[in-house]
Amino acid sequence: MCGIVGVLGKHEVAPILVEALKRLEYRGYDSAGIATINNGVLDRRRAVGKLVNLSDLLVHEPLAGKSGIGHTRWATHGAPTLNNAHPHRAGAVAVVHNGIIENFRELRAELAADGIDFQTDTDTETVALLAERFLNRGETPVEAAMKTIDRLEGAFALAFLVEGEDDLIIAARRGSPLAIGHGDGEMYVGSDAIALAPLTDRITYLEEGDRALLTRTTLEIRDAKGAQVSRPVKTVRIDSASADKAGHKHFMAKEIAEQPAVLSDAIRHYLPANEDSVRLPGEGIDFAGVQRLTLVACGTAYYACLTAKYWFEQLARIPVEVDIASEFRYREPPLPAGTVALFVSQSGETADTLAALRYCKGKADRILSVINVPESSIARESDLALPIHAGVEIGVASTKAFTCQLTVLLILALKAAADRGEMTPEALADHVAALRGLPHLLNAALECDGAVRGAAQRLSAARDVLFLGRGLMYPLALEGALKLKEISYIHAEAYAAGELKHGPIALIDSEMPVVVMAPKDALFDKTISNMQEVMAREGKVLLISDAAGLAEAQEGIWMSITMPRVHPAIAPILYAVPAQLLAYHTAIAKGTDVDQPRNLAKSVTVE
Ligand code: AGP
Repeated sequence: MCGIVGVLGKHEVAPILVEALKRLEYRGYDSAGIATINNGVLDRRRAVGKLVNLSDLLVHEPLAGKSGIGHTRWATHGAPTLNNAHPHRAGAVAVVHNGIIENFRELRAELAADGIDFQTDTDTETVALLAERFLNRGETPVEAAMKTIDRLEGAFALAFLVEGEDDLIIAARRGSPLAIGHGDGEMYVGSDAIALAPLTDRITYLEEGDRALLTRTTLEIRDAKGAQVSRPVKTVRIDSASADKAGHKHFMAKEIAEQPAVLSDAIRHYLPANEDSVRLPGEGIDFAGVQRLTLVACGTAYYACLTAKYWFEQLARIPVEVDIASEFRYREPPLPAGTVALFVSQSGETADTLAALRYCKGKADRILSVINVPESSIARESDLALPIHAGVEIGVASTKAFTCQLTVLLILALKAAADRGEMTPEALADHVAALRGLPHLLNAALECDGAVRGAAQRLSAARDVLFLGRGLMYPLALEGALKLKEISYIHAEAYAAGELKHGPIALIDSEMPVVVMAPKDALFDKTISNMQEVMAREGKVLLISDAAGLAEAQEGIWMSITMPRVHPAIAPILYAVPAQLLAYHTAIAKGTDVDQPRNLAKSVTVE
């Protein structure tokens, strides 16, 4: 994930670009850079590491100019080196990019055949080189950019700057969000409205395939077919008072939005780029000799364990027990030889989970933990602690920690499957590829926010809500119910969809909203049958599925939320986003304290 920004200003833009990048740093911080045009001359400054390094550089090597672009990077192609830092430049063209150019190798081969040398290991450099080549063939800057964009495959948000053109930025969006900001005699572009919040609240969101030509006073948008289109200018008020919230109204909102970036971090740590093998910290663990797993946690972390049960059993064929820590510690279950105990905890300090861990000491073959605080008690008392790299999670309702827990647990299950010869290299590579594509899908899933906000307005009137799911979606239904009740105070509970007819269906009437979480997977038809049993009794169904699922099952439903199509194994991670947003917007509609809900604490360090 990366953050891009561009400014056509009336004043020096370097400080404005850096301030905007600060608000985008949650999207990645391997390196940062800006490029400007000053008196028609294009120049750039870049620095490795956090944005502060670029700021320091600009103190010593200032960059003048009233038009510019900027970038904060999370490396996808090429190590996080200075050479690979954006903006990338080829002759008169500078470009910043968020996303992945999937055909960059083919493009590099084509450019190399033209005798063009490469300075970096990045996919983005090919974009600059292509544009420069079109310029050198006599195309105008706009046409050179358009023809370049036509050649690209994959997901990208781009912003181009061309030497000599100090009142022009060309931008494009495909698969990665991009917002245009309307100033007073100024124009801006950014990965999101948060980046532009100090500059303007008048925002135009580009749609898939859109290209935009910005001058200080005009904005021309063309769709993917080149037709000129207009997109609405919206007023987007962002609370820019607290930098901690990166412009979000609540920590929870920020932490939901951070998920693409932090999951990228988690994936990068356990699945090194260009490798399909899993890398664990320390001495790791070989699952070949493990006879059974016992997973223990509380709350949201417990639902992560319930999800992991499906993965370990289906992919690695390891029998798994899952327990709520407060029950486990007093039930004192026997732990046969060959048992590995695994504890999941965001804080690493939850009293019941820690007590359960201590019960297992000396009984289980190994003690593993999946934690967000490496120096926590649970981490310290584990034989192997696996960090989830979610960053500080301040909102009491766990969001990014949950999806990072799931990501690490799935990676662990893949390792177990590989260790035990239960998964072919091809199947492993397929799952790894799905995980690597997850951050982009999460970005796409976050775009359901508007639809979820509308649904939440209607859901907020409910007294009770039911969540249903099957298979991997059942633990997620449990998590969705927990999210809703813990921040909106609406009573919510979840059932395995197949369990509904064994009693809970007695609850269904026209006052009972039922949230059904069902990607179009192998269990979809069965879940939809359960959904129809609900609708036959006037139940109001909110169906969360993908386009294919909704095309089949949307008749008669109360509301729907569309998710991108996703690999079945990672569906619970992606579908956590609408569940989190539904709870968040319902709580806002109810006026409850989203970040610090009543009666709750972030870490329950007492029994
Ligand atoms: C999740 O939204 C809740 N805040 C709560 O259930 C939490 O997951 C639980 O207390 C476990 O906390 P831990 O992950 O820090 O152990």
